[in-house]
Amino acid sequence: MFKTLFLSSVLACAFLAASCSQTEQALTDEPEVAPVEQTVTESNTETSVTSNKIQHPAPAPKQVIEAPVSAQTLTQFSEKPPKTQLRQTSVVRTPFPVKRCMNLGNALEAPNEGDWGYRIRKRDLQIIKQAGFDTIRLPVRWDNHTANRAPYQIDASFMARVQDVVRQAQAVDLGVIVDVHHFEKLMRQPKRQEARFLAIWTQISKAFKGAPANVYFEVLNEPTLEIKMSQVNALYAKVIPIIRANHPKRKIILGGNSWNSVERLDEVRWPDDPNIIATFHDYGPHAFTHQGAEWSEPAMPLGRLWGGREDADELKSTYQIANAFLKKTGLPILVGEFGVIDKVPQAQRMNWTKIRRQTMEANNMAWCVWDFSGAFKSYDAGTEQWLPGVQDALFGP
Ligand code: GLC
Repeated sequence: MFKTLFLSSVLACAFLAASCSQTEQALTDEPEVAPVEQTVTESNTETSVTSNKIQHPAPAPKQVIEAPVSAQTLTQFSEKPPKTQLRQTSVVRTPFPVKRCMNLGNALEAPNEGDWGYRIRKRDLQIIKQAGFDTIRLPVRWDNHTANRAPYQIDASFMARVQDVVRQAQAVDLGVIVDVHHFEKLMRQPKRQEARFLAIWTQISKAFKGAPANVYFEVLNEPTLEIKMSQVNALYAKVIPIIRANHPKRKIILGGNSWNSVERLDEVRWPDDPNIIATFHDYGPHAFTHQGAEWSEPAMPLGRLWGGREDADELKSTYQIANAFLKKTGLPILVGEFGVIDKVPQAQRMNWTKIRRQTMEANNMAWCVWDFSGAFKSYDAGTEQWLPGVQDALFGP
């Protein structure tokens, strides 16, 4: 069993969203959450690609979701041991200043900024800062803007644009996580693309030399497809010295295979370096968070609710694994992406988001919600409003 930190009416409200009145902004179109006899389809083993997005976990055997559980979620999970024995090291890990982060998804991760309907505006950074976030994560598709031949030059105007956004974020006192996103070629042909990948990091490393300490590097978003964990580890071992040549103490974020799944964290060969952060992504269960996503093949049906017993078990198991990892390694953890597609009714999205966020905080994990104004949006750039319930889900009790 897991320890309950507190079971308040707020929590009951969070898990059984429909029965509660919202304090902050009115939520309207909500059915009861409690699903009975819903089907879940998810696994972590297969992929396909549509519309330039790598599909997250593909469908797997059906499970029946039983009757809804009561409010029992805001918990600190601790017991489940990691699958493999992790190497003990004497390195003292330094704290990670990031606590509340917003992903600027669908902008610089699109083939070209704007292709997926969102371009980063200077004002967005101000809006994010004012809402209470300390950091943004900037997913960047360097691959599309890098030459295919040595010396694998990154297009100068693209690099300038990334630097510009980082500067704008810094100007409003936001930290920035810069990643390498959607490097599908590397994940399909790790050997052929290795030199190009290292050249990209060499250029990023130089471009951000001297940047303030709250600029962070995330080496490779969501490794998947053909690349094996051993190959990801080998790449990490090569990239880190490239970064360290210019950034001796900058925080570097690393994650495991299978789209940064929590289960693969213990397969990363963690460097003996005090400034390393571990990351995983939490979209569990996919049948709920990614329902109707066009980039999934086949698209998962709309109408999947969240909050049954299987869902509570899935939540518990995810954070037990993460917590055991944290205790074992002492590495700070960033949940670098979590969120629900905007096709799901808003109150259901916020219910899931709030419980996940509370669970992360109860387990001392930093979080970065996906996303600001893309397909999992928190903010409507047309009406210039945060969507109902976002502030409470992310910053409420
Ligand atoms: C991953 C993908 C991104 C997608 C998100 C949610 O980060 O790279 O494109 O929108 O997950 O599926």
